[in-house]
This record gives sequence, C-alpha cells and structure tokens, in this order.
Amino acid sequence: MQMSTSNLGGQFTFPATSLTVRRMGYGAMQLAGRDGNKLVWGPPRDIDAAISVLREAVASGVNHIDTSDFYGPHITNQLIRRALHPYPENLVIVTKVSARRGEDGSWLPAMSPKELTQAVHDNLRNLGLDVLDVVNLRSMFAVHGPAEGSLEEPLTTLAGLREKGLIRHIGLSNVTRKQVEDGGKIAPIVCVQNAYNVANRADDPLIDELEKQGIAYVPFFPLGGFNLLQSSGLSEVAESLKATPMQVALAWLLHRSPNILLIPGTSSVEHLRENLAAAKLTLPASALKVLDQLASKTDAAAQH
Ligand SMILES: NC(=O)c1ccc[n+]([C@@H]2O[C@H](COP(=O)([O-])OP(=O)(O)OC[C@H]3O[C@@H](n4cnc5c(N)ncnc54)[C@H](OP(=O)(O)O)[C@@H]3O)[C@@H](O)[C@H]2O)c1
Repeated sequence: MQMSTSNLGGQFTFPATSLTVRRMGYGAMQLAGRDGNKLVWGPPRDIDAAISVLREAVASGVNHIDTSDFYGPHITNQLIRRALHPYPENLVIVTKVSARRGEDGSWLPAMSPKELTQAVHDNLRNLGLDVLDVVNLRSMFAVHGPAEGSLEEPLTTLAGLREKGLIRHIGLSNVTRKQVEDGGKIAPIVCVQNAYNVANRADDPLIDELEKQGIAYVPFFPLGGFNLLQSSGLSEVAESLKATPMQVALAWLLHRSPNILLIPGTSSVEHLRENLAAAKLTLPASALKVLDQLASKTDAAAQH
C-alpha cells in the first residue's frame, strides 16, 4: 500500500462553526441488530463487540460519529452513550431526525413539528447530551432517494429548536439541490448527507456546488450499504495497490473532493481497522482512470 502523511484524511471544519473533524469518521447504523427481515432493529447479537467498535474508533482518532435515534430504534444511541460517555471534548456526534420505525421494521415519515421536537429530545436523552452538535433533517418524501417537496415547515421547527439551544447546527439528508438552496434561506446548512459512492455518482454536481460553499458532503452507503460494492475494476485496482476493494472505494471518496467526510459503517473491529487504514492509501492516475470507467459503466447500465 502506498502511504501518505494524512491523519485519517486530514481535517474539515463545518462552515461558520467551531466544529472540526477528521475526514475519516464512523457511521453507527450497523451497530443495531437484525430481527428476521427487520434491519437495523433491536440489540446487536454481541453488545460487547459493538462497544469495542465504538471505543476503538475513538481511540484511533475518529472524532465524527453519525447516528440516529431511529436506529434500533434508540439502541444505537444508547450503545454510543454506554461506550463513550462522558464524551471526549473533540467528538462531534451527528444525528438525524424525521423518521420513525413501524412495528414491521419499516421506515416511516415523522416530519411534523411535534414528532421532530420529540425526536430531538429522544436523541438528547439517549445520547446523554444537553445539546446536539449537528442534526440532519432527513427528507422522507421518498425513503430510497431524494424527492422534491418543501422542507420549510420541518426546517423551521429545527431552526426554532436551535434558537432554544437544543441544537448547535443543522444539516440535510436525502435531499435535492433545490432543497439545499431553499433550506439555506431558513437556517445555515453545515452538511448534506446523501447516497453516493464510487459507482453511484448522481450527486456529482451537488458535491461541486457544496464544495464552493464550504459545506460538507457526507455520503451514506460509501461501501454500497446493504448491497456491498462489487466490481472487477475495484478488485483490479485493489490488487494492484495491495489494498482491499473497500479501502479503494473509501480512498476514492477522500480523493474526490476535500469537502467529503466519510462515515463508513461496520459492526466489526477488523473492518473498522481496514476502513481507517484507507486514509493512508494514495490512488495513482492509472487507478483513477479504471475507477472512472466503473462509474460510467454503472451509469450506462442504470439507464437500461
Ligand atoms: N441519511 C440516511 O438516510 C442514511 C442512510 C443509510 C446510512 N446512513 C449512515 O451512513 C453510514 C454508512 O452507511 P451504511 O453503514 O449503511 O453502509 P456502508 O458504510 O456503505 O456499508 C456498510 C456495510 O459494509 C460492511 N463493511 C464495512 N466495512 C467493510 C470492510 N472493510 N469489508 C467488508 N465489508 C465491510 C458492513 O458489514 P460489517 O458490519 O460486517 O462490517 C456493512 O454491511 C451508516 O452507518 C449511517 O450512519 C445514513
């Protein structure tokens, strides 16, 4: 593996804030359990292992953890509290609101002022905090991707909770470019969290726009999420660099743009170590060429 001198991908400061994080963070969704078809549901099979992942992440320098109270529900936040409270001063926990879980494990909208206020209080209680660093409003007009619709009412609610001192900063998730533009008129937006990875580059124009504004772009499913990335191109590059395909996928994201922050999810200490080591991987031009072809092939396939 080719080494660079970066420390977990270097640092990023959320715009107009005093919050600075290392670009390689951790996404906590995978820590909740599974009950048949109900994903991200109930306690993990091995609670000690989940706690070890969180402690090892922080001990390795991760200071950006992504979570939500609807993971579990409640369980992921309770694990974070159990593993890490009292929190290190530099740890930034980013949570998200606007969904609730049905008894069948479904992800349902919960975007009313009452539901959002309840969600912020649930996050505060389960994380053991007096104020939340960053809260992402996760648009639920569609579950599996951004869809147009006005976020004025829910964002105004979050802005009100911010004025009350319960939230420091606001982000958006699963949103369109228009929703980001409109949202910025209601409250300063410090980050956007959408699905994006080396094979799914639909958000390229949005990332470039956010970079100009200094707003963080935090891809979810950086490794493909529930359908792990698999491609001969990725494997070929990985082999040539003596790295793993997942490390190449993460290194590509760090390379893509300086405003990209990573929150790969894992329930395994071994995978966590592998993922963090990706920050030391440098991708040569020949590798970038192969990875670019991978995206265009995927995009072309998606159109048919
Ligand atoms: N805003 C939103 O709507 C939204 C939606 C989804 C997720 N998120 C956030 O984004 C974070 C990242 O997304 P994600 O966790 O869904 O997907 P992801 O990071 O793309 O992939 C997670 C999957 O990859 C596996 N994995 C991780 N590292 C690996 C490695 N080195 N080798 C092989 N497999 C590996 C994990 O299994 P193991 O546990 O076995 O490692 C898990 O199945 C989440 O944790 C969550 O915080 C946000």
